[in-house]
Amino acid sequence: MAAKIAPSMLSSDFANLASEAERMLRCGADWLHMDIMFHYVVDKLLKNSSSAVLSCFELHFVPNLTIGAPVIESLRKHTKAYLDCHLMVTNPLDYVEPIAKAGASGFTFHVEASADNWQELIQRIKANGMRPGVAIKPATPIEEVYPLVENEHHVEMVLVMTVEPGFGGQKFMPEMMDKVRSLRNKYPSLDIEVDGGLGPSTIDMAASAGANCIVAGSSVFGAPDPAQVISTLRKSVQN
Ligand code: DX5
Ligand code: ZN
Repeated sequence: MAAKIAPSMLSSDFANLASEAERMLRCGADWLHMDIMFHYVVDKLLKNSSSAVLSCFELHFVPNLTIGAPVIESLRKHTKAYLDCHLMVTNPLDYVEPIAKAGASGFTFHVEASADNWQELIQRIKANGMRPGVAIKPATPIEEVYPLVENEHHVEMVLVMTVEPGFGGQKFMPEMMDKVRSLRNKYPSLDIEVDGGLGPSTIDMAASAGANCIVAGSSVFGAPDPAQVISTLRKSVQN
Protein backbone atom coordinates (compact mmCIF):
# COMPACT_ATOMS: atom_id res chain seq x y z
CA MET A 1 0.00 0.00 0.00
CA ALA A 2 1.23 3.48 -0.83
CA ALA A 3 2.04 5.56 2.23
CA LYS A 4 0.26 8.91 2.51
CA ILE A 5 1.60 11.20 5.20
CA ALA A 6 -0.88 13.94 6.05
CA PRO A 7 0.17 16.66 8.48
CA SER A 8 -2.89 17.93 10.35
CA MET A 9 -3.11 21.66 9.69
CA LEU A 10 -4.99 22.00 12.99
CA SER A 11 -1.55 22.19 14.59
CA SER A 12 -0.30 24.85 12.17
CA ASP A 13 -0.22 28.60 12.61
CA PHE A 14 -3.64 29.50 11.17
CA ALA A 15 -2.51 33.07 10.60
CA ASN A 16 0.06 31.75 8.12
CA LEU A 17 -1.84 28.83 6.66
CA ALA A 18 -0.51 29.07 3.10
CA SER A 19 3.13 29.19 4.13
CA GLU A 20 2.59 26.42 6.71
CA ALA A 21 1.09 24.24 3.96
CA GLU A 22 3.98 25.03 1.65
CA ARG A 23 6.45 24.20 4.44
CA MET A 24 4.82 20.81 5.04
CA LEU A 25 4.89 19.95 1.34
CA ARG A 26 8.56 20.91 1.19
CA CYS A 27 9.13 18.60 4.15
CA GLY A 28 7.68 15.68 2.18
CA ALA A 29 3.96 15.65 3.05
CA ASP A 30 1.71 13.84 0.57
CA TRP A 31 -1.61 15.28 1.74
CA LEU A 32 -2.73 18.15 3.94
CA HIS A 33 -5.27 17.04 6.56
CA MET A 34 -7.95 19.67 7.21
CA ASP A 35 -10.08 19.24 10.35
CA ILE A 36 -13.48 20.78 9.84
CA MET A 37 -15.45 20.92 13.08
CA PHE A 38 -18.74 22.58 13.59
CA HIS A 39 -20.57 22.72 16.85
CA TYR A 40 -23.92 20.93 16.94
CA VAL A 41 -25.59 23.79 18.80
CA VAL A 42 -24.40 26.31 16.24
CA ASP A 43 -25.56 23.98 13.46
CA LYS A 44 -29.00 23.81 14.99
CA LEU A 45 -29.29 27.51 15.56
CA LEU A 46 -28.40 28.25 11.96
CA LYS A 47 -30.89 25.72 10.66
CA ASN A 48 -33.74 26.82 12.85
CA SER A 49 -33.29 30.23 14.31
CA SER A 50 -36.56 29.98 16.24
CA SER A 51 -35.11 27.28 18.52
CA ALA A 52 -32.90 29.82 20.21
CA VAL A 53 -33.06 28.07 23.55
CA LEU A 54 -31.40 24.71 23.32
CA SER A 55 -30.87 22.44 26.26
CA CYS A 56 -28.86 19.86 24.33
CA PHE A 57 -25.30 20.85 25.03
CA GLU A 58 -24.28 17.18 25.29
CA LEU A 59 -25.31 16.59 21.71
CA HIS A 60 -22.54 18.44 19.91
CA PHE A 61 -20.43 16.25 17.65
CA VAL A 62 -17.12 17.60 18.95
CA PRO A 63 -16.59 20.33 21.52
CA ASN A 64 -14.62 22.61 19.24
CA LEU A 65 -14.87 24.90 16.23
CA THR A 66 -12.14 25.06 13.63
CA ILE A 67 -12.34 25.96 9.97
CA GLY A 68 -14.90 25.79 7.19
CA ALA A 69 -15.30 26.19 3.45
CA PRO A 70 -13.98 29.80 3.25
CA VAL A 71 -10.64 28.76 4.71
CA ILE A 72 -10.35 25.74 2.39
CA GLU A 73 -11.12 28.07 -0.51
CA SER A 74 -8.43 30.52 0.54
CA LEU A 75 -5.85 27.78 0.95
CA ARG A 76 -6.76 26.22 -2.42
CA LYS A 77 -5.66 29.45 -4.12
CA HIS A 78 -2.14 28.84 -2.81
CA THR A 79 -1.66 25.11 -3.35
CA LYS A 80 -2.46 22.24 -5.67
CA ALA A 81 -1.99 19.72 -2.83
CA TYR A 82 -4.49 16.99 -1.99
CA LEU A 83 -6.70 18.47 0.73
CA ASP A 84 -7.83 15.59 2.93
CA CYS A 85 -10.90 17.03 4.65
CA HIS A 86 -12.15 15.40 7.86
CA LEU A 87 -15.68 16.56 8.62
CA MET A 88 -16.60 16.45 12.30
CA VAL A 89 -20.12 17.74 11.87
CA THR A 90 -23.55 16.30 12.63
CA ASN A 91 -25.01 16.87 9.15
CA PRO A 92 -22.28 16.13 6.57
CA LEU A 93 -24.69 16.13 3.63
CA ASP A 94 -25.17 19.89 4.04
CA TYR A 95 -21.44 20.46 3.56
CA VAL A 96 -20.76 18.40 0.41
CA GLU A 97 -21.37 21.16 -2.13
CA PRO A 98 -19.72 24.03 -0.22
CA ILE A 99 -16.65 21.98 0.64
CA ALA A 100 -16.34 20.69 -2.94
CA LYS A 101 -16.68 24.20 -4.37
CA ALA A 102 -14.02 25.38 -1.97
CA GLY A 103 -11.58 22.91 -3.54
CA ALA A 104 -11.44 19.87 -1.25
CA SER A 105 -9.95 16.65 -2.64
CA GLY A 106 -11.17 14.09 -0.09
CA PHE A 107 -14.35 14.29 2.00
CA THR A 108 -14.35 12.05 5.07
CA PHE A 109 -17.54 12.07 7.14
CA HIS A 110 -18.24 10.29 10.44
CA VAL A 111 -20.25 7.06 10.41
CA GLU A 112 -21.86 8.26 13.66
CA ALA A 113 -23.23 11.30 11.82
CA SER A 114 -24.33 9.67 8.58
CA ALA A 115 -27.44 7.85 9.84
CA ASP A 116 -29.52 6.30 7.07
CA ASN A 117 -28.44 8.62 4.31
CA TRP A 118 -24.89 7.37 3.77
CA GLN A 119 -25.59 5.99 0.28
CA GLU A 120 -26.82 9.37 -0.90
CA LEU A 121 -23.91 11.05 0.88
CA ILE A 122 -21.30 8.87 -0.88
CA GLN A 123 -22.93 9.43 -4.26
CA ARG A 124 -23.05 13.20 -3.73
CA ILE A 125 -19.38 13.30 -2.65
CA LYS A 126 -18.36 11.44 -5.82
CA ALA A 127 -20.66 13.49 -8.04
CA ASN A 128 -18.94 16.59 -6.68
CA GLY A 129 -15.53 15.28 -7.69
CA MET A 130 -14.22 14.35 -4.24
CA ARG A 131 -12.93 11.06 -2.87
CA PRO A 132 -15.25 9.67 -0.16
CA GLY A 133 -14.03 8.39 3.18
CA VAL A 134 -15.70 7.38 6.43
CA ALA A 135 -14.33 8.05 9.91
CA ILE A 136 -15.09 6.13 13.09
CA LYS A 137 -14.87 7.34 16.69
CA PRO A 138 -13.11 5.21 19.34
CA ALA A 139 -16.30 3.89 20.98
CA THR A 140 -18.00 2.82 17.73
CA PRO A 141 -17.62 -0.85 16.68
CA ILE A 142 -15.71 -1.31 13.42
CA GLU A 143 -18.50 -3.47 11.96
CA GLU A 144 -20.49 -0.26 11.44
CA VAL A 145 -18.30 0.80 8.53
CA TYR A 146 -18.34 -2.56 6.68
CA PRO A 147 -21.54 -1.85 4.73
CA LEU A 148 -20.06 1.47 3.54
CA VAL A 149 -16.98 -0.29 2.18
CA GLU A 150 -18.94 -3.08 0.52
CA ASN A 151 -21.76 -1.08 -1.06
CA GLU A 152 -21.86 -0.40 -4.79
CA HIS A 153 -21.29 3.31 -3.94
CA HIS A 154 -18.50 2.68 -1.52
CA VAL A 155 -16.03 4.82 0.40
CA GLU A 156 -12.40 4.63 -0.68
CA MET A 157 -10.88 5.19 2.73
CA VAL A 158 -11.68 4.39 6.35
CA LEU A 159 -10.30 6.76 8.99
CA VAL A 160 -9.88 5.05 12.35
CA MET A 161 -9.77 7.69 15.11
CA THR A 162 -7.02 6.91 17.59
CA VAL A 163 -8.12 9.69 19.98
CA GLU A 164 -11.53 11.18 20.77
CA PRO A 165 -12.07 13.68 17.93
CA GLY A 166 -11.98 17.36 18.81
CA PHE A 167 -8.42 18.41 19.58
CA GLY A 168 -4.82 17.86 18.53
CA GLY A 169 -2.13 16.80 20.99
CA GLN A 170 -3.96 13.90 22.68
CA LYS A 171 -2.58 10.48 23.58
CA PHE A 172 -2.69 7.66 21.01
CA MET A 173 -5.09 4.82 21.89
CA PRO A 174 -3.27 1.53 21.05
CA GLU A 175 -6.46 -0.48 21.62
CA MET A 176 -7.77 0.97 18.33
CA MET A 177 -5.25 -1.19 16.45
CA ASP A 178 -7.67 -4.14 16.59
CA LYS A 179 -9.98 -2.12 14.34
CA VAL A 180 -7.16 -1.41 11.89
CA ARG A 181 -6.15 -5.10 11.82
CA SER A 182 -9.73 -6.24 11.20
CA LEU A 183 -10.08 -3.79 8.32
CA ARG A 184 -6.74 -4.77 6.78
CA ASN A 185 -7.55 -8.50 6.97
CA LYS A 186 -10.90 -7.96 5.34
CA TYR A 187 -9.85 -5.36 2.72
CA PRO A 188 -6.24 -5.81 1.58
CA SER A 189 -6.22 -2.82 -0.78
CA LEU A 190 -8.33 -0.30 1.16
CA ASP A 191 -6.78 3.01 2.24
CA ILE A 192 -6.80 2.94 6.04
CA GLU A 193 -6.06 6.24 7.77
CA VAL A 194 -5.26 6.74 11.43
CA ASP A 195 -5.65 10.08 13.18
CA GLY A 196 -4.67 11.16 16.68
CA GLY A 197 -1.48 10.86 18.66
CA LEU A 198 0.62 9.56 15.76
CA GLY A 199 4.35 10.25 15.79
CA PRO A 200 7.70 8.43 15.81
CA SER A 201 6.86 6.59 19.06
CA THR A 202 3.45 5.25 17.95
CA ILE A 203 3.79 4.81 14.19
CA ASP A 204 5.11 1.24 14.30
CA MET A 205 1.98 0.04 16.10
CA ALA A 206 -0.25 1.66 13.47
CA ALA A 207 1.85 0.62 10.48
CA SER A 208 2.17 -3.01 11.57
CA ALA A 209 -1.59 -3.18 12.15
CA GLY A 210 -2.04 -2.15 8.50
CA ALA A 211 -2.59 1.63 8.41
CA ASN A 212 -1.11 3.35 5.33
CA CYS A 213 -2.48 6.92 5.58
CA ILE A 214 -1.04 8.70 8.58
CA VAL A 215 -2.35 11.96 10.01
CA ALA A 216 0.06 13.70 12.36
CA GLY A 217 -0.40 17.14 13.88
CA SER A 218 1.55 17.98 16.99
CA SER A 219 4.36 15.48 16.35
CA VAL A 220 5.16 17.10 12.99
CA PHE A 221 4.51 20.77 13.75
CA GLY A 222 6.13 20.53 17.16
CA ALA A 223 9.33 18.95 15.85
CA PRO A 224 12.53 20.91 15.22
CA ASP A 225 12.85 18.96 11.96
CA PRO A 226 9.40 18.10 10.53
CA ALA A 227 10.97 16.52 7.42
CA GLN A 228 12.68 13.95 9.59
CA VAL A 229 9.43 13.06 11.38
CA ILE A 230 7.59 12.73 8.05
CA SER A 231 10.34 10.49 6.73
CA THR A 232 10.23 8.30 9.88
CA LEU A 233 6.46 7.91 9.50
CA ARG A 234 6.82 6.98 5.83
CA LYS A 235 9.59 4.43 6.43
CA SER A 236 7.53 2.66 9.08
CA VAL A 237 4.54 2.32 6.70
CA GLN A 238 6.78 1.09 3.88
CA ASN A 239 8.52 -1.53 6.00
C1 DX5 B 1 -8.62 15.50 16.12
C2 DX5 B 1 -8.23 15.69 14.70
C3 DX5 B 1 -6.83 15.38 14.38
C4 DX5 B 1 -5.77 16.14 15.15
C5 DX5 B 1 -4.57 15.25 15.27
O1 DX5 B 1 -10.00 15.57 16.22
O2 DX5 B 1 -9.05 14.86 13.87
O3 DX5 B 1 -6.59 15.45 12.98
O4 DX5 B 1 -5.41 17.35 14.56
O5 DX5 B 1 -3.60 15.89 16.02
P1 DX5 B 1 -2.42 15.11 16.76
O6 DX5 B 1 -1.61 14.42 15.71
O7 DX5 B 1 -1.70 16.18 17.48
O8 DX5 B 1 -3.06 14.10 17.69
ZN1 ZN C 1 -8.60 14.76 11.72
